[in-house]
Amino acid sequence: MKNKFNNLTSKEWLPFQKSWFRFISDEELYTSHIRFFTKPHQDRPVFLYRGPQGELAEKICVKQDLSFLSWADWMDASKDDTLNGPTQYAIIDLREEIDENTTLDEYEAIKRDVVREAETLFCHMEHRRFITVFMRNVQSERSFYPYAWDLAQNLAGIFSIKDEKVACMEEPKKEVRKSWFEPEKDVFYSLNFRKDEHSGGTFSHPKLHFFSNTRQQETRENFGNGISKWFILRPRSRNKKEILHPAKYPENLVEMFLREFTGAGDNVFDPMSGTGSTQLGALKMNRNAYGTELSQFFADIARERCSEWIAPTGNNNSSGESKPECRIMVRDARQVDTSDVPAIDYVLTSPPYWDMLNMKGAENQAKRKKKGLQTSYSGDKEDLGNIADYKAFVDELTKIYLSIAGLMKPGAYMTIVVKNIKKKGRNYPFAWDLAHALQQQLILLPPVFWLQDDISIAPYGYGNTWVSNTFHQYCLTFQKP
Ligand SMILES: C[S@@+](CC[C@H](N)C(=O)[O-])C[C@H]1O[C@@H](n2cnc3c(N)ncnc32)[C@H](O)[C@@H]1O
Repeated sequence: MKNKFNNLTSKEWLPFQKSWFRFISDEELYTSHIRFFTKPHQDRPVFLYRGPQGELAEKICVKQDLSFLSWADWMDASKDDTLNGPTQYAIIDLREEIDENTTLDEYEAIKRDVVREAETLFCHMEHRRFITVFMRNVQSERSFYPYAWDLAQNLAGIFSIKDEKVACMEEPKKEVRKSWFEPEKDVFYSLNFRKDEHSGGTFSHPKLHFFSNTRQQETRENFGNGISKWFILRPRSRNKKEILHPAKYPENLVEMFLREFTGAGDNVFDPMSGTGSTQLGALKMNRNAYGTELSQFFADIARERCSEWIAPTGNNNSSGESKPECRIMVRDARQVDTSDVPAIDYVLTSPPYWDMLNMKGAENQAKRKKKGLQTSYSGDKEDLGNIADYKAFVDELTKIYLSIAGLMKPGAYMTIVVKNIKKKGRNYPFAWDLAHALQQQLILLPPVFWLQDDISIAPYGYGNTWVSNTFHQYCLTFQKP
């Protein structure tokens, strides 16, 4: 198949499609992005750069046979229309401009600038070509500011938001180590936008009030000392019962979060228990395990797994040791109240990812169908995975989490495993939207990325455009004030 998008072979194309990568150096970062997002030709397409590494970017650009323009020169040229050709690709590197010392006012000023310039850029951009923004969310003195999510949502009013990549660093950012969240390893984003038939062209997106919540200031000190901002899990293969569920998370993820947020004897709850991974993990660590699940089928599997652990077949359980309590209800999460569970110390959960399991085309779905496995959770209309409207889905889920938060002890934490969703060529930043909605009442802590490294990469979009394979999930943690 002819590659119309860049000059990469399919072998080179594939690794770039993974939605996360290990950061090695700026040179490698710029080179991989420029090579992927450009297709040089004799008219020497324009590459535009804003950031602190102009010389490096220009050097790479010359090697790739592109016309390099710095942002400032380009702005001047665009004013008096002396631009000699449309821009094929732009990089905006804000990693130095926005850091933990950036105040909210300073950030707002940079954002206004970038958004205004992006509007001008939109008019000079080749159709179906990309801009990339490198930046990070920021943690300053005990507060978390999701600047990257905020800017992305704003730019999405102009360009179509296509995809994100997570750049994983081995080291923490030096300054971060002093603050209240002390991850061993840092991350930043490569946020990618495209000019296409869905793009707005003018900034019309409502401003998200990510920062209106002063509760961000109330977070406990020393959160996250045992947790790194990103981690790779290689889960063991699932057993016969577990594989019946289309989307369970691995036990080692459960263990990791329980170790961080709970102690022995605590009450752990999952409002959408699935096959009971949260409860089983809790029991193994001597925590009380509670939960609810809409589907009788999955609740039965969850109960069976947990009772096997509490009283394994053939074990007469004569040790006399007190066992943690376990109770999994078959009920709509909306119907749980204080009479059903003791005050909760920690919630670990994962929702249906909108109605994605009902999408017949999904590759994984086809494989499951072939094996005779269930491809959706249920046909039940109370099943959140059956709500077709995105906004209605996020609203309903938010209501559920807030009502569960009502059952939590003050100061208790809730971790939700989610991901951003791509559906029919559009991007729905589900993780960010959910974080934004819950942040109105709960304290949002820095997210942690669960990275998947054991799935083969599919060549989506090869030769035409960039569509990533989403191999990173967000573990969003909130604290009840
Ligand atoms: C992503 S799965 C959870 C998987 C689970 N963490 C595990 O590891 O097995 C989401 C679950 O939510 C359940 N669910 C959907 N709507 C629900 C509702 N209204 N109340 C309770 N559970 C619901 C689905 O049946 C599904 O099992």
